[in-house]
Amino acid sequence: MSSVDLVSEGKKERLVIRGGEPLKGVLTAQGAKNAALPIMASALLLRGGRLTIERVPDLQDIHTMMDLLDHLGVKVEMKDHRMTLDVPEEISWETPASLVRKMRASSLVLGPLVARCGRAVLPLPGGCAIGSRPIDFHVKGLAKMGTSFELVQGAFHGRTSGLKPARIYLDFPSVGATENLMMAASLVEGETILENAAREPEVVNLAETLRAMGVEIEGEGSGTIKIRGAKELKDAHVSVIPDRIEASTYLLAGVITGGKVTVRQIVPEHIEALCSKLEEAGISVEIKGDDVTVYPSGRYRGVSLKTLPYPGFPTDLQPQIMAAMCLAEGTSVIHESVFESRFLHVSEFKRMGAQVDLQGNTAIVTGVSKLVGAEVHASDLRAGAALVLMGLAAEDETVVCDLEHIWRGYEGIVEKLRALGGKVIVTRGE
Ligand code: EPZ
Repeated sequence: MSSVDLVSEGKKERLVIRGGEPLKGVLTAQGAKNAALPIMASALLLRGGRLTIERVPDLQDIHTMMDLLDHLGVKVEMKDHRMTLDVPEEISWETPASLVRKMRASSLVLGPLVARCGRAVLPLPGGCAIGSRPIDFHVKGLAKMGTSFELVQGAFHGRTSGLKPARIYLDFPSVGATENLMMAASLVEGETILENAAREPEVVNLAETLRAMGVEIEGEGSGTIKIRGAKELKDAHVSVIPDRIEASTYLLAGVITGGKVTVRQIVPEHIEALCSKLEEAGISVEIKGDDVTVYPSGRYRGVSLKTLPYPGFPTDLQPQIMAAMCLAEGTSVIHESVFESRFLHVSEFKRMGAQVDLQGNTAIVTGVSKLVGAEVHASDLRAGAALVLMGLAAEDETVVCDLEHIWRGYEGIVEKLRALGGKVIVTRGE
C-alpha cells in the first residue's frame, strides 16, 4: 500500500479501545524509524551503488521516503524488513513538494543531494503540530561548506561548485542538522568537524552506515564529530538499531495499566533516562541482556522531568510518560524544552478526566485515581500513541481518531497490543 493510501485510510479509521485491563506479555521492538530514514537518505551518496538495510520498520514514513527516493531515481525495494536501494550514476536533485510537505524528514536528502549533485531543490518542509521546525541550522552548516541558497517560490534552491571541509558549531544539537551535515561531509576530502552535534543513537547508527560506505568518522555519540569524506563511496549492508521510542511506548503501556510487559531485542542503555524515571516513580524495571521488563508496582509516584537532547529524557516520549503520570500518586512537573508547542495532547487528556495545568512549556500533572473513556483526536505521532495508552487505562471505551499519525511510527500496533491482551479494534468511520 503506497503512502498516499495509508494516509487516506488513516483519516477514516478509528481505534476503539476498551480499557481497564492490565497488559501482560512479551513483544519485540521494531527497527528505529528515526534511524532508518537518514540511513535511507544516505544511499544518495552512492553513484551506481547498492545500499542494503536490515530491520527497516514497515511504516508510512518509510513508504514516504521510498516514494521520495524513487522520484529522485533510486530503485527501492523492501521485503520482510530488508530494503535494497540501487542508486544510478545520474539522479534528480529536485524534490516534490507533495512528499516534502508530508514528512519533515524529507529534508534529510538535502545534504546528500548538494554533496553528490552540486545542487538541490527542497520545498520548505511544513511545520507540524509540535512546532515550526525550521531547517536554518541545516542551511547555515551547508552554507559554511560552500553552498549558496536562494528561496524561490517557497523552496530552497541550493548550489555549490564543490563543498569544502569546515568546522561547524551547531547552535542546538539538532538531530536532522547533524545527520545532513555528516552526509554532506561524506563526499568531501579533508576534515569536517561538527561541534555541539546531536548524540542520539540514531545519529550513531547513521555514522556506522557511512563508515561502512568508506567514510572516516570519529566521535559519533559525543558532541564533536569529525568526518573525512571520499570522492567515491562503496556498497554497504547495514542494520537499523531497535526503536527506543516504540519500545518505551509499550513499556509505558504496561506501567499505565498496571501490567507486566517485556520488550525484547532493544538496547537498554538507549532507554536509560526512562528506566531511571520509572524507578524514581517506584516502578520495578528489570533488564536482562537486550530484554527490558516492567512489573506491576501498585500506585506509582509522580515524577518531574525536563525533555532534553540525548542522553536526556527524550521529547518523543513526553506525551506517553505524561499519560502514565495522569494516574500517578501526587504531582508531576513536565517541562518540554526541545519543541515550542508539544502539548496539544493535554486538551485531549483532560477529556478523559486527567488533571493537567499548562504554564508555558511546563505541564503540572495532578494524579487522579481513574480515567474515563472519550472520543479523542491524535494531533501528531507521539500524542496519538499517548492517547492509546490513556485508552488502555481508562475504565470504559475510548475512540482514537486521526490514526494516520499513528500509522507513521508504530508498525503493527493493533496486533502488538492485542498480543498483550489489549481490547483494541480498528473501525472505519465516515
Ligand atoms: C528528530 O527531528 C526526530 N525525527 C524527531 O522525532 C525528534 O522529536 C527530534 O529529532 C528531537 O529528538 C527524525 O529523526 C526523523 P531537531 P528533527 O532538528 O531532526 C529546532 C518523531 O516523533 N531546529 O533535533 O527535526 C526544532 O524546531 C519525531 O519521530 C531549528 O530551530 O529535530 C526543534 O525545536 C518528531 N532549526 C529543535 O531544534 C533547525 O535547523 C530540535 O529539532 C533544526 C531544528
